[in-house]
Amino acid sequence: MSAPIAEEMERFRKIFKTSIRSDAPLVDMIARYLLKRKGKKMRPMLVLLAASAAGGVTERTHRGAVLVELLHTATLVHDDVVDDADVRRGFPSVNAVWKNKAAVLMGDFLLARGLQLAMEGKDFDFLEIVTDAVRRMSVGELRQIQKARKLDIDEPTYFKIVSDKTASLILTCCEIGALSAGEDATRRAALGEYGEALGVAFQIRDDALDFDGSFKRFGKPIGGDVKEKKITLPLIYALDDADEKEAKRVRKLVKNGKKRGAVSEVVRFTREGKGLRKAEAKAREYGDRAKAALDALPDTPAKTSLRNLVDFALTRDR
Ligand code: IPE
Ligand code: MG
Ligand code: MG
Repeated sequence: MSAPIAEEMERFRKIFKTSIRSDAPLVDMIARYLLKRKGKKMRPMLVLLAASAAGGVTERTHRGAVLVELLHTATLVHDDVVDDADVRRGFPSVNAVWKNKAAVLMGDFLLARGLQLAMEGKDFDFLEIVTDAVRRMSVGELRQIQKARKLDIDEPTYFKIVSDKTASLILTCCEIGALSAGEDATRRAALGEYGEALGVAFQIRDDALDFDGSFKRFGKPIGGDVKEKKITLPLIYALDDADEKEAKRVRKLVKNGKKRGAVSEVVRFTREGKGLRKAEAKAREYGDRAKAALDALPDTPAKTSLRNLVDFALTRDR
């Protein structure tokens, strides 16, 4: 998947590592903990591949890759506080080990470091894009909280939330990659369109894995979204399909998510119906849209990798 940028990824890892170290012992301890619990590095990979597909990786591309991974890590650390999640990437979350206070502040530190690196590099164009993405991610998460309270989410609202909370950063990765390679507006627009669609497909897969993933591979407990009263696409479709009485019963179970057995019953209901398959079909639709957007770019090994990344996002189990 990342063959054209394998060496660049090595370089990224080195710069990322130094960017989050600190002379404050608690900050550095958490930083080292985060470095050990490795993620997929999909976002920096996207920055490098987008740059490569748009003309070539530069110094600025690397600053962009570090910037997005710092922001991504910050949002994961904060997200686990928001969702009261104990496990991430198969290990205890930062809030589970050091409590919410330290996790909130560490997330702020990572966010600030990202913005600071972009300032130091005078990458004001990155800052413009990235600050908007951070705003959208916060708004998306807040909208999700509101919907979880009322349990009245529908398909259009789901897509709005997903576009804000997940696709905005993935789109940002592609735009930053494109910008770092040159000024070509057509390429930037094509990669932006690709990133938006890929981001939505990626999140639908994430939401499906909450129902039918393996805890060991996924690294997060199954049914975690239901526990947080999040009604995601597979469940939205499953509820649409069920008769009124059954749908009412399941909604009630979601409402009482903390009650013993309620979450696993909702998971079972979703897995038995057509909801998951319908959600997967929808993800494939977005995946196709992402691939089609790449047609505007010249054929390069990086473009092939971007295509393959779509298939990875659709079939990943972690
Ligand atoms: C998790 O993103 C957050 C979302 C689902 C939007 P990833 O699944 O890419 O996280 P890591 O970095 O690989 O753990
Ligand atoms: Mg969350
Ligand atoms: Mg994940």
